[in-house]
Amino acid sequence: MKAVAVAPGKVILYGEHFVVYNVPAIVMAIDKLVKVSASPREDGSLRICSDLGFACTYEDSEVKPLMGGRKATKFLEPVRIAAKTVLEHFEEKKGLSIDICSTIPSSVGLGSSGAISVATVAATSKILGHELDREQIWRFSLQAERHVHVNPSGIDPLVSTYGGLLVWRIQDDSKPKKINRDIEIIVGNTGIQRSTGKFVSIVGRKKAKRVEGISQLMGVMSWISNLALKAFREMDLATLGALMNMNHELLKVIGVSHESLDRLVEATRKAGALGSKLTGGGGGGCMISLATSNKKAAVCKAIEESGGQPILVRKHNAGVRVWLTKS
Ligand code: PMV
Repeated sequence: MKAVAVAPGKVILYGEHFVVYNVPAIVMAIDKLVKVSASPREDGSLRICSDLGFACTYEDSEVKPLMGGRKATKFLEPVRIAAKTVLEHFEEKKGLSIDICSTIPSSVGLGSSGAISVATVAATSKILGHELDREQIWRFSLQAERHVHVNPSGIDPLVSTYGGLLVWRIQDDSKPKKINRDIEIIVGNTGIQRSTGKFVSIVGRKKAKRVEGISQLMGVMSWISNLALKAFREMDLATLGALMNMNHELLKVIGVSHESLDRLVEATRKAGALGSKLTGGGGGGCMISLATSNKKAAVCKAIEESGGQPILVRKHNAGVRVWLTKS
């Protein structure tokens, strides 16, 4: 018997980084998924294996990389934390095998680590015979997220847990509001992997030093997110695009963009996108564009010609799902 959990990645449409400081963000779960299965092990150890070529076993306090060397230890640590959080909460000492299969590119701002943590928590609790509600899944996943991002807002595991298109700020805790609209987004992946935690810290230092204008920028970002919410209600795509452009400028000012992102943003705007911005932690990773149907092909081509990989994504409504299977 094994438990299988599937959870979606995400794109942040408005408000990354600012969301850490209680500014509302708008985020969409996407149709790029991770699958995590958990099955019992007789030998009492924890064994984690990822289709990226990483595997480790954990016995008492000893970790042994089986595949991928030291990189494996680092990559799989949040997964270990997610599984351990559940085991410790339920005071279980059982051995488990955890297998990860992902279609979300990693370390590029599409929420792969959040989705893996969420699916690990869901699969681990299910195989141990415990039912968690969505709020618990999110809270347990946050432990792993803290290891990856140091000071995360929690938005990645939140959207992966609940699914859909959401508006949320930290103060809302586990109560995101769903926006019942469908939208197709073009992602441009620069292919440059980077650490979100590093860029969250850069912004944190500026905020702590009260770098001139930073509080005003928080206010401007709140205003952009609130206007975007209104534009979603009216499905005013032109305004949604213009607000994405403004959001990108703010992210540049706080120092989290990268020349590869700015190049793709510029090229997609020239190709007729209604709006483009970086998405996620920045410093490389991905950007997104909003475009009308007749411009989508040109926008994808512009991403390719500027050295990026275009990926069309749609909203994934379900959030995390988990079930038991014999095979
Ligand atoms: O994990 P990423 O790169 O998609 O970034 C998450 C969004 C941030 O706002 C940059 C960090 C956070 O925890 O909210």
